[in-house]
Amino acid sequence: NETDKGTYPFYMLKEIDEQPNVMRRLAQVYLSETGEPVISDKLLNSMKQADRIYIVGAGTSYHAGLVGKRLFENMTQTPTEVHISSEFAYEQPILSKKPFFIFLSQSGETADSREVLVNVNAGGYESLTITNVQNSTLSREATYTLLLHAGPEIAVASTKAYTAQIAIEAILAKALGEADNQIVAQRFDVRHQLGLVATGIQAIVDEKKKIEDLAKSSFLNTPNAFYIGRGIDWSVSLEAALKLKEISYVQAEGFASGELKHGTIALIEKGTPVIGLITQEKTAGLTRSNLQETMARGAHILTIVSESLAKPGDDIILPDVDELMTPLLSVVPTQLIAYYTSLNKGLDVDKPRNLAKSVTVE
Ligand code: G6P
Repeated sequence: NETDKGTYPFYMLKEIDEQPNVMRRLAQVYLSETGEPVISDKLLNSMKQADRIYIVGAGTSYHAGLVGKRLFENMTQTPTEVHISSEFAYEQPILSKKPFFIFLSQSGETADSREVLVNVNAGGYESLTITNVQNSTLSREATYTLLLHAGPEIAVASTKAYTAQIAIEAILAKALGEADNQIVAQRFDVRHQLGLVATGIQAIVDEKKKIEDLAKSSFLNTPNAFYIGRGIDWSVSLEAALKLKEISYVQAEGFASGELKHGTIALIEKGTPVIGLITQEKTAGLTRSNLQETMARGAHILTIVSESLAKPGDDIILPDVDELMTPLLSVVPTQLIAYYTSLNKGLDVDKPRNLAKSVTVE
């Protein structure tokens, strides 16, 4: 039974552990036997005509959109904007001549996102909803739907829906880029990458004990923490910080690592945890320097690093995958850090205070 916790103390841990299978399932559902994306021609043709992609979402889904921007822009060369739905709804950005809208929503019911879709439909524009729930409101009201196939997500803190959203964005970006003869997309072996990701996530979740120890020693007694990174690592840092805030009530911030010194570094005190996400070759050295700057102010620094960029003393090593796919791995230790911090504080991991799984008010 998919909604049974089994031997797990909390749904969140079960859902974290399910991620390798979700990756494999998405490869089965959305790729052909030869590893090519299977996306309807109608959807691809609509997207091909677009001069700009607008991704809209809330919370964790918004964060999956930030990663999606990098995937679409790298593989399709189509400018892509990402918007928080509650902002877009009442402060609509100036639209391009031929916009295409992607709605990201685990539940398909978020009222803020629906408000945007109502306006998009009123404007006569085409849209795609990427959601976990068939026949949900956002799915019914958009032109197209792609399902996450992640199985029910019950813990309030979203985990497998985030990675599933990113995996589908990668498949879609590959399909769209290839349809437009984009070389980055042609060279991107999405089936191979999803396979690497599945095994990579498995390797990380198999190291639970190590991550629990790290959570206990570094996060249990801190009032605040920072995740920092550049580019795609910055996008993941926002989601990493949100997880920690949501379930462990540690005040956490995700930060562009180069921006820290322009003000926020004033918050670093002796022992403040600063976790660097390092998965991009061109910015690895810079993020390391930014970590050193915080260490000089007393921060307790930790690193989550891709294997090929690792140095002695790094804390969590991620198996190597294509640089565009690293969020699918780097987020996993941060999910586990949040989980174990919450668990060891004796909190209700699955039902954090003040939060709802699906927010149907604006
Ligand atoms: C709520 C949940 C979040 C989620 C957000 C968007 O706030 O607590 O975990 O990311 O809604 O939900 P959606 O279903 O649209 O992805």
